Parts: sequence; structure tokens; C-alpha cells
Amino acid sequence: AALATSDEGGADFVSKLKSQKKRIAIFYGSQTGTAEEYATKLAKEAKARFGSSSLVLDPEEYEFEKLDQMPDDCVAVFVMATYGEGEPTDNAVGLMEFIENESPEFSNGSERLENLNYVIFGLGNRTYEHFNAVARKLDARLESLGAKRIGERGEGDDDKSMEEDYLAWKDSMFEALASSLNFEEGGGGDVPDFKVTELADHPEDKVYHGELSTRALLGTKGIHDAKNPYNAVVSQARELFVEGTADRTCVHVEFDIDGSGISYQHGDHIAVWAHNPEQEVERALAVFGLLDKRNTVIDVESLDPTLAKVPFPVPTTYEAVFRHYLDITSHASRQTLNSFAKFALSPDIRAKLEQICANKDTFQADIGSRLLKTAEAMQWVAGDDLQADVSAIKPWNIPFDRVISDLPRVGPRFYSISSSPKMHPKSVHITAVVLRYQASKQSPWVHGLATNFISSIKMEKNGEQPTGANDPRFGTPKYQLTGPRGVYTKDGQYRAPIHIRRSNFRLPTSPKIPVIMVGPGTGVAPFRSFVQDRVCSAEKAMEKGGKSAEEALKDWGNIWLFYGCRRANEDFLYRDEWPQYAEKLGGKFIMETSLSREKFKPDGSKMYVQDLLWERRKQIAEDILERKAYIYICGEAKGMAHDVEAIFAKILEEAKGSADEAKKEMKLLKERSRLLLDVWS
Ligand code: 2AM
Repeated sequence: AALATSDEGGADFVSKLKSQKKRIAIFYGSQTGTAEEYATKLAKEAKARFGSSSLVLDPEEYEFEKLDQMPDDCVAVFVMATYGEGEPTDNAVGLMEFIENESPEFSNGSERLENLNYVIFGLGNRTYEHFNAVARKLDARLESLGAKRIGERGEGDDDKSMEEDYLAWKDSMFEALASSLNFEEGGGGDVPDFKVTELADHPEDKVYHGELSTRALLGTKGIHDAKNPYNAVVSQARELFVEGTADRTCVHVEFDIDGSGISYQHGDHIAVWAHNPEQEVERALAVFGLLDKRNTVIDVESLDPTLAKVPFPVPTTYEAVFRHYLDITSHASRQTLNSFAKFALSPDIRAKLEQICANKDTFQADIGSRLLKTAEAMQWVAGDDLQADVSAIKPWNIPFDRVISDLPRVGPRFYSISSSPKMHPKSVHITAVVLRYQASKQSPWVHGLATNFISSIKMEKNGEQPTGANDPRFGTPKYQLTGPRGVYTKDGQYRAPIHIRRSNFRLPTSPKIPVIMVGPGTGVAPFRSFVQDRVCSAEKAMEKGGKSAEEALKDWGNIWLFYGCRRANEDFLYRDEWPQYAEKLGGKFIMETSLSREKFKPDGSKMYVQDLLWERRKQIAEDILERKAYIYICGEAKGMAHDVEAIFAKILEEAKGSADEAKKEMKLLKERSRLLLDVWS
């Protein structure tokens, strides 16, 4: 299961622990980096408390079969994210499959883990049905194999309170660890993770200015994946909402993948690596006192590589770090601000910040409720005007290694692909509403990083002036699209780094099986891809025998699409395309559209997709029960997906004549992967 790693000890983490005289092995199951970040957090705190270094391990790279050989004065810590519909992250699939095996065979032939002490923290999202399923499963399984859990299982909720859940959990866990395994408190103290060196002369072509991999810097060929994203040309970008009708904007973007070696399937996701907007880059440079040194080339070394990896490629510059690598636009974190407090501009400001960070409620009252970003929060505590010119910002003197340790790194953002590779083999399309909101009229605007980045590429590419939803009064962010060495513009084309993530959101292979797709708003994105896929198959079937659509598709199942938007002439996505697809699908394509702010129910309440499903319940029930239809729901998790699932249960209840039977059928649909969700919060 494991690959050998280059460093000493190879994939055998037990030998590694012993030879390095460590007692804590932290495994992380991480998809976008959050669980990895929490694994590092735990390692750092263990070091600060006990003076004890940990091994932080990617389970994909180490022989977890050796868990049975962990010495009994050691502890394995599992920091496990649950992803999608209760699935493990890609790097934890092997570990979970192995451990869930009825009789897993550990390295020395044993099937038990009596020696193993473990700690577990799960990362999940409460808006999903399978909240923290992976951590719960792993916990139950380890326990049944005889392992001993130290402290309670921690569970973080990404929807709301990840950081607070972690903070509320970790103290008692560390106390339990200290008492059960005799870790001595008061060992390490606060030691730096990194050493930052400013380099006087460095060849410019070896300095990273936003590249995400060595291959990208050197321009060498190679496979494109999460570790080496492809810098794709944005070949097309256009607005999908009717201009001038709303303060909202939704962009259709096509990334050119011709010649990249990238392939994709309908239902897959695309990751877009955006960078930070200029306004925030300048603010961060100013707050950390680096405006004059923006172009200084720096090298960063990890002082304990097993504990903390340098989170970006080096050498680079202060400016590139703030533009491309560190996350300066997320809501400020209590821990980060707390750690910055001792570097405050004055004892008063320090006291004020420490008091604000003292607990969850004080923090929420002043910083959280205003949705302030880190640098904004620092300005706010210092009494600065957040709108003022950066030259007016008073710099905080924080060692840069602290800044690197305490700010997360910029992660990619994922979108459901809205094109079919059969129709568009050389491009990948996305459909994204541009995200912007504020806590109150007085609060600064919050801008979704990648959607605003994409929107700004669209505007630059088409020579658009900021108007409507891109009006500067929304605090519309500006992105640097002409980086050094043309990272984002080359040959007059705009580019963005991307990679593909596989999914199991797939059509049944046989078109005879009906499909029921429910996707209001941008939830329709993957269904544009699905419908295009079926259109291509239909064309093939017609060509084959020179048949008409009716003839060629006579065995096909229904292709239902339940779509919803506000108004037909405002936010109806791809309005012109659907009739063209319908024509090719010879009556098999049935699209029902709810217009929630235009067509109402008799009682005046809003019509939604679930109401249209209910109207069609007879045919829907027949397709599900008699023709084994596949059901797909895509879009917002909390309200819509939940309500739509409830309607399916109700339709089945009516058809089967009992709520119990309907429940059973729903369960079966999920087990057989005939009810698939692609939802977000
Ligand atoms: P509304 O904004 O008028 O409430 C796409 O966003 C569409 O989904 C809009 O028409 C929106 O309606 C609708 N929508 C909002 N909440 C929903 C829910 N719980 N179920 C189904 N559709 C919903």
C-alpha cells in the first residue's frame, strides 16, 4: 500500500519514530490541505507543551500496516477529513480500506491493535448528511481492534466552527495524553518553525513568482495534477446573467486543455488556483511592514521538516508570498490573531487584542461578526481606517517566520465541470456565480477568491468596464493578471492554473436507464455536461443506421432535468442551449423550470424545483421503481438538497403506500449509488 519516501527510514514510520526518538505519529487524511494544517497545528502544540516532536505523515506514503508495532508509550494521532458523501479523502482511501477489512493483516501477522494508543480529530461539515463519517468509522474500527483512544474524539464543523471546535477539544485531549502516557508538561515553549533568509543576489529566472511547482518554473513537461497544475489559457469567458437586471453576476469560463495531456469525464470537478487581489496584497505588505521590501528575494528553511514543511516553493519574494501563496483573504482566525498579539504596536493594543482573543464570544463580537480578514482585523484593533491608503497603515513588526506559520496557504477552489468531454474534448467549462457579501453595511466586502479572479479575467479579456455587479461600490477586487514572466498572461492570453479531480457523479452507461437530474441555480452545471454527453451518444446512434431521433432513441429512458432560477429573463442559465439539446434527444429530454420570483403557487408562495417534481410524481415514481432511474441532485446543500430529498421520499411514500417502504427505498437508492449528490454549502 505504501511507497518508499526518499528520506531516511523510508515508509516505515515505526522505525522512524524510534530512530528519531519521537513518540507521536500524526496521520492526516486531507483533500484541500485543511486537515494537514490541523495535523501540523497539533504537532506544534505538542512540541510547545511537551517539548516533544512528532512525525506528521501522509498515510499514502507510509506503511500503516505497521500500526500494530507502535510502542505502547507512543501515540498515533489521526486527523481525518470526511469528503463528499461520507468518503475519505484521496490520500486516506488506502488506509480506510485496509482498516475496514474484516481481518486486516498487520505487519507481523497479527489482526489486533492492543498496543496502539490513539487520538482522533475529524473534519467535516454539518450541512452534509454523513457528518464526520470517516473519523467516526475509523474510531469505531480502531476500538474494535483493541486500540485505546486517549481523550474524546474531536469533531470539527467546517460549515461554522472548525477552529472553535478544535480549540474546545484540544486542551482536554492534551491533558489526557499527558496523564495516560506520561508526557511532561512545560517542555518546549514557543519555538520558530522556519528560518527566513533574505538573499542579496539571486538569478531572477530561479525565483518563484506564483508558480506552483518546479516543473512550472522550469517549463519542463510532466503530468498535470494537484502537485503540478496546468496553466490553462482562458479561451472564452462571458456573463450568463442578463446584464443590468441584477446586482449578481455569473460567469461561464472555458479553459483550453488542448495539448496538456489532461482528460476529464462528465461529473468531474476542476480545481482553480486563484491568487489574492491587489488591494489585499498591498494591505498585507503594509501591515507587516514589507512595502519597501516587496521585491526582496527570500529563502525559507524548515527548522523541523517533519513538523512543518515550507508551505510554498522558494526562493520567492515577500510580494509573491502575499499574492500567491498565503491565504490573506479568509476570515481572521482567533489563534492567528492571538499569536500576533505580542507583536502589537503598543501595550494597549496588545492588551486589547488579547482580550478580544480571550474566548470565542469576545472574538465573535468584535472580529468574527464583522467578517474581517487578518490584516483588516489588525488595522481595526489598532484603530485604523480600513479604507485609508496603505501608506497610512502603521506596520507591525512580526518576524516573517511567524507570518508563515500562522497564516494558512492558498488552496484551490473546486467547481463542477459544466461541459462534456464528448462534445468539448479540448476545453473544460465552468459556471460560477461570483461571490460577494458583507456582514453589514458598515463592514468591508468579502469576495470569493476564485470567482472574483475568474470574473476579473473575463472583464480584462473582453475589455469590459466595471459596471453593474462589478461596480467598484461593491469593493470589486482587482487582480494582477500580468505577473513577472507572464505567469498569467502569455501571448496576449489570460491563464489560470487548474487540475482535475475525479468524482463518482456519473451517468449510467446504458441510456436505457432513465435519469432524473435536479439542479437549480449553478447546480445545473454538471447537468449541462450530462445532457451534452447524451446528445453526443444520440447523434452517434442516429448516424449508425441513418435513423431519425425517434427511431434511434426508442429504447432510451427519460432524461429529466428539473431546473430553477429567479426569472426567465434574468438568471436563466444557458437558456438558448436547452432547446437545441432537446431537439437532438427526440422527446426523451424533459426539462421543467421553476421561476421562483415570477411564477407562484396558487397560495402566492414560491415555486421551486421540488414543487415541479411533485407535479410529475406519477412518472417520476414509475421511472424510479419500474425502470430503475438514477437520481442526481446538485447545488446548495442546506436548504435545496435537503428539501429535494424529502420530496423524493414523499413521492415514494405515495407510490408505495407507506412511509417505511419509502424509507427503505431511499436507503436502497443510496446504497446502490442510484441517488447521487454533488452539493456545497
Ligand atoms: P429564491 O432565490 O427565489 O428563493 C436558484 O438559486 C434558485 O433556487 C432560485 O430560484 C432560488 O429561489 C431557488 N431556491 C432557494 N432555496 C431553495 C430551496 N430550499 N429549494 C429549492 N430551490 C430553492
